[in-house]
Amino acid sequence: MATPHITAEPGDIAELVLMPGDPKRAQRIAETFLEDARLVSDVRGIGCWTGTYQGTPMSVMASGMGIASLSIYATELFRFYGVKRICRVGTCGGISSSVKVRDVIIGNAAHTNSNVSTLYTPGVTMSLAASFDMLRGAVDEARSMDLGGEARVHVGAVYSSDFFYLGRADVTEGLDHVGTLGVEMEAAGLYACAALEGAEALAVLTVSDHLKDGSGDMSAEERETTFGTALRIAAAGLLA
Ligand code: HPA
Repeated sequence: MATPHITAEPGDIAELVLMPGDPKRAQRIAETFLEDARLVSDVRGIGCWTGTYQGTPMSVMASGMGIASLSIYATELFRFYGVKRICRVGTCGGISSSVKVRDVIIGNAAHTNSNVSTLYTPGVTMSLAASFDMLRGAVDEARSMDLGGEARVHVGAVYSSDFFYLGRADVTEGLDHVGTLGVEMEAAGLYACAALEGAEALAVLTVSDHLKDGSGDMSAEERETTFGTALRIAAAGLLA
């Protein structure tokens, strides 16, 4: 049973899926974070690997960039492969002064300039929100961890933009004013797909740059350590 974008056999993909944006990151997660991971699909350079994490079957598959790309993979996983939970594990730009580069943001809700919040329910803007159980599992794990250095974990709303280069300071200022923590390009699409498919989702994001001060230079080693923290939090959300 292949779909247009996934060639795995039925049962090849676990009910729990980690979803970074970058396909190379997905491969690294398969090789270094999951146990006994094997490649079960490879279409358009988007591989899907299935292995185990702490003894529980878990898959990893990239979303590509943006809501349009993510919604294809998330929908096919939920609708045709029996996936129950997807946790996005990616990066975001900081919007609020309360977050710093290297911090982790757990997105309990996602604002968006995408039509994804209005397409399905005419006249209604859907609230795009994380799964409560996944959120609780991720937050419990984050609070039990020593993040190292000064890095902290925040829980709050993120902004999923269809435009990386929109460059509208008035938009980000307004979002900052209503407590939005960071900007990325996928979480709202993931929360919408989960709602439409009767499934669950969460986004765990490492702050890789900050819109206010232009900071963003993390060394390769720091990126790896910080990303490892986010991965553990994300996996705890999937297992919760
Ligand atoms: N904008 C959108 N997506 C992002 C950013 C950003 O500044 N940083 C990381 N992902």
